[in-house]
Amino acid sequence: MTISLVILAAGQGTRMNSDLPKVLHPVASSPLLHHAMAAGQALGPERTVVVVGHGGEQVAASARAFDPEVAIVEQTEQRGTAHAVAQAAPLLAEASGDLIVLYGDTPFIRPETLEAMRAARARHAIVVLGFHAADPGRYGRLVAQGEVLEKIVEFKDATPEERAITLCNSGVICMEAKLAFDLIAQVEPNNAAGEYYLTDLPALARARGLSAGVVLCDEAETMGINTRTELARAEAAFQARARTEALENGVTLTAPETVFFARDTVVGRDAVIGPNVFFGPGVTVESHAEIRSFCHLEGCHISKGATVGPFARLRPGAELAEDVHVGNFVEIKNAILDEGVKVGHLTYLGDAHVGEHTNIGAGTITCNYDGVMKHRTVIGKNAFIGSDTMLVAPVTIGDGALTASGSVITEDVPAEALALARARQVIKPGLAAKLFDRLRAIKAAKAKA
Ligand code: UD1
Ligand code: CA
Repeated sequence: MTISLVILAAGQGTRMNSDLPKVLHPVASSPLLHHAMAAGQALGPERTVVVVGHGGEQVAASARAFDPEVAIVEQTEQRGTAHAVAQAAPLLAEASGDLIVLYGDTPFIRPETLEAMRAARARHAIVVLGFHAADPGRYGRLVAQGEVLEKIVEFKDATPEERAITLCNSGVICMEAKLAFDLIAQVEPNNAAGEYYLTDLPALARARGLSAGVVLCDEAETMGINTRTELARAEAAFQARARTEALENGVTLTAPETVFFARDTVVGRDAVIGPNVFFGPGVTVESHAEIRSFCHLEGCHISKGATVGPFARLRPGAELAEDVHVGNFVEIKNAILDEGVKVGHLTYLGDAHVGEHTNIGAGTITCNYDGVMKHRTVIGKNAFIGSDTMLVAPVTIGDGALTASGSVITEDVPAEALALARARQVIKPGLAAKLFDRLRAIKAAKAKA
C-alpha cells in the first residue's frame, strides 16, 4: 500500500528561546526535522509534505536540502494539529493509500515502529502510536481497552480520572489519507485550547462505526524537544544508543563515552575508533580502518585498512582509499587520496588528487585559494613531495616526481622529474660567531646606558 507522510513543523518552539526555528536545532549533527524525515523516508513514501509556519523559509530550505522532492505547505496561523494537517489536503486529498503524521520535533521514532503501525492498520481504520509515560505530564491521554482506542483526551480537557491514565499519545497517527481529510473537515475547535485537535480523529472515526487502535513504543522513542535542556538530553540519548549500536556491530570504541556520532555515520565491522573522535554528517568508515584519538571528521569516506590521526581533520569531500595513512595535524578537504598514500604530519590538502603510494612530506600545503577562486592540485602516483612544499594551484606533479623540501611549486612538474624551487644555500665561514659578538656588544652597551 502506498504511504504519504505529513510532517508538522510550523510551531514556534517558544521555549527554545532561540532565533532558530525549533525543528532546525541539531541532534547528532542533523536538524531535528531531518531525523523525522529520515524515519518517514525509510517507508518509501509516495509523497512527503512538510507543514511550515514559523521560520517557514528556513525550514523549507532545510527540508529540501534533505529531500529535494519534498512538498512544502505553509500554515500561516498555528490553529492546532488538525488544522496543520489540513494544509496538506490540496496535495493529498486524492492520494491513494495511507497517511502517516509525524512531528518535526520528535526525532527518534524508528522506521520499525512505523511499520508496526502500518501492520496494525489491517485491524483498525486509525492507528495511534502510544507509550506508557513515566511522568505523563501534559501529554494527551489514550482512553483504551487493550489495543482498542476509544478516544484521545488532551490534558487541558481531561477529567482527574483521565489525567491519572499513564498511556499517552505520541502524536504519530496512521490512517487512510482520504479518511483523514474527511474526518479533519469535521473537527471543531470546541476545547480548552480553542484549537483544531488532530487527536479528535479516533473518536470521530468511532462515531462512524470505524475502529481505532493503539500501537505501543518505548517512551524514549517519542521524546519530543521543547527546551534546550531536552535538546541536550536528546543528544545524550542519541549518542548512548549510537555507541551501543556501534559496539554491537563489531566496532571497537576504546572510550565509547567520548565518541560522538552523527545521525548518518556508518562504521564497518572491526573498525577501531580511539578516544575523543567526533563524527559530523556524512562519514563512512569501512571495516578494519582505524581512527585514532582526537579526530574531527565530516563528509568523508575512509576505506578499509586506512589509519587516520591522532589529531586529524577530514572535511567534506575527503576520500581515502584503502591503506591510506593520514597522521597528526593534517587537514584534508575535497581531496582524493588513492591507495597507500601517506600524509603523516602537519599538512593541508584541499581540492586535490593524490595518486597511489605517493608520500606527502611534513608541512606540505596545497595553496588552493588565490583569494578569489579555488584551484586544483593533481599529484601522480609514487611521487614524493618533500617536506614544506607549497603547491601553488593549479599545478600538476607527475608520476614518480620529487619536489625538494622547502620548494614553492608554481609550475607543473613532469613525471620522474626533480623540482627544486627554493634559494640555493650559501655558507659564510665564521660569520655566525662574528654576528653574535656584535649583538652581545650592542646588548652590553645598552645595559650600561
Ligand atoms: C500533541 C498532541 C498530544 C500529544 C503530544 C505529544 C494534539 C492536539 N495533541 O500535543 O496529544 O500527547 O502532541 O507530543 O495533537 N504544530 C503545527 N501547527 C499547529 C500546531 C502544532 O505545525 O497549528 C506542530 C508543532 O510544531 C509540533 C507538533 O505539531 O511539532 C505538535 O504540536 P504541539 O503544540 O507541540 O502539541 P502538544 O500540545 O505537545
Ligand atoms: Ca509538543
